[in-house]
Amino acid sequence: MALITWNEEYSVAIASIDNQHKVLFGLIDDFYENIKNSSSNENIQKLVIGMRKYTQTHFAMEEKFMKDFNYPDYENHKKEHETFVSKVVEIEDKLHANKLVISLGVTAFIKDWLKNHIQEEDKKYSETFIKNGVE
Ligand code: FEO
Repeated sequence: MALITWNEEYSVAIASIDNQHKVLFGLIDDFYENIKNSSSNENIQKLVIGMRKYTQTHFAMEEKFMKDFNYPDYENHKKEHETFVSKVVEIEDKLHANKLVISLGVTAFIKDWLKNHIQEEDKKYSETFIKNGVE
């Protein structure tokens, strides 16, 4: 069973952004499956790095829109993104130094963070983005 499955409750009502969130859910799920199946540290590292890079591209796009549209919660939202990325980089560093036996708890943290972030923060920008023509 998948760790995280996208459904309408995660929709921000903007197809391009929903699609990126769906990709992210898929990447988290790959990561989870590999941990569950005791994949090598090297594989897990590659998956974490891939997930972090995709996340950063996604965050950069949201932040550009927020900035362009003078979104009032831009600074706070950007800070949330930065905190999350730094936590994932910490996980990467520990994996690289063989100091982290990755556990399902790590995947739960990433999954919960993303779910909460989409539902509590991303959804707040929908109206502004839609009004400015983001589809
Ligand atoms: Fe979709 Fe703010 O991340």
